Amino acid sequence: MAHPSHRRIAIFGAGYIGLVTGACFAELGHNVVVRDIQPERIRLLNVGDVPIYEPGLGDLIARNKERLTFTLDAEEAVRDADVAYVCVDTPPTPSGDANLSRVWSVIDALKAASHLAAVVVKSTVPVGTAGRVRAALDAAGLSHVGYASNPEFTAEGKAVSDFLHPDRVVIGADDPATAELIASLHEGIDGPVVIMDTASAEMVKLAANALLATKITFTNEIATMCEATGADIEHVTRAIGLDHRLGPHFMQAGLGYGGSCFPKDSRALRAMASNAGYAFQLLTAVIEVNDLQPRRAIQRLKTELDGLGGKTITLLGLAFKAGTDDMREAPSTVIASRLLAEGATVRTWDPLAQPGDGEPWSSTTRHFTPVEAMTGADAALVVTEWPQLAEVPWDQARAVMRRPLVFDGRNLLDPAAMAGLGFTYMSVGRRTVSR
Ligand code: UGA
Repeated sequence: MAHPSHRRIAIFGAGYIGLVTGACFAELGHNVVVRDIQPERIRLLNVGDVPIYEPGLGDLIARNKERLTFTLDAEEAVRDADVAYVCVDTPPTPSGDANLSRVWSVIDALKAASHLAAVVVKSTVPVGTAGRVRAALDAAGLSHVGYASNPEFTAEGKAVSDFLHPDRVVIGADDPATAELIASLHEGIDGPVVIMDTASAEMVKLAANALLATKITFTNEIATMCEATGADIEHVTRAIGLDHRLGPHFMQAGLGYGGSCFPKDSRALRAMASNAGYAFQLLTAVIEVNDLQPRRAIQRLKTELDGLGGKTITLLGLAFKAGTDDMREAPSTVIASRLLAEGATVRTWDPLAQPGDGEPWSSTTRHFTPVEAMTGADAALVVTEWPQLAEVPWDQARAVMRRPLVFDGRNLLDPAAMAGLGFTYMSVGRRTVSR
């Protein structure tokens, strides 16, 4: 029998956020209808396929199929719903602002849904969006329908577990009844629920991502200093991370942050500041340093190889991080483009990511195994921290490469072991070693 707090929820958007949110709410006992505008996506979901790679999501959808349906029809999704969740994407516009057109088309589709108890926006939006949506709902005669902002803090690759075991659930609502209703949807989740006004909730999301991006970037800056001074970033971050005020997370030096969130959200926050006439200088520096990070790696490789023209370089990993097939804003794209621009030949390997047919990937070749990808290469560049790369038979790779040069852009491998195998081994914030 349904528990009294179990509700009927319409989720708009069947992307990473919408599908995870829908499947997790169904797991918590709610009845969920997920609506998307892409027919192929809905067709796949209706035959039991999951159109994105997210560990655990397929099982969750299969296990809850009684309570979880998919549709193209907005009216059908909302017909019996108590709460409508907006989980559509908000890609950047040329000015760096978030494009809210998809959010607005969902709000338009809800204007006849006067039976709803609440509309919730989970999409990442500029601070102040809640006020504008509230006004639109009021103008449509829906002033009795509650409004909440419920930002998401799930990371790709562990989104299901992040949703069900969160550090916190943030709910921004302008009236206590709506806050309570949205909090009740999360019953069964083991994490604190923090309730605040809508603008603050919208700010939490952008500020949290900006601070994480800043922490990574600070680490990358210290790594550059380590390269200049002979210190080792891995020793430095291990010791710094033991300070409980700082913590060990998001201090992995590398080729810079990518993905669909940090780059977009940091630019959106900066754009928000600029639009208000405020120069957010710290965030501007973070964005610039992150942009430089993969280019700096190419420059170091170019110096080591005495030019890149006519050289063959293998990219090991294309996804923006391990555990996902997502290549949005992945450093690999900038790296491949730069290498091609320098006249290099680019070979690639990735266990999941599908780079597609557009540039730069149409000018590169894909290979099934890391060793095959490294055949004839003048250098191999570890772009994504795939654990498989630690298991590569590096002695075999050494034998098939033209030059024994590895640039480890994620500090995944052991410098002494790589040097012992006869490689010149470069990494980020550590000394270059060779036998
Ligand atoms: C990020 C946040 O971690 C989530 O909390 C947030 O909900 C999400 O964005 C979002 O806004 O939707 P995600 O983009 O999936 O999640 O990936 P992260 O695991 O945070 O990694 C982001 C990037 O930072 C990756 O390119 C990763 O390689 C890089 N990174 C991360 C580092 O270079 N060093 C680190 O120490 C950690």
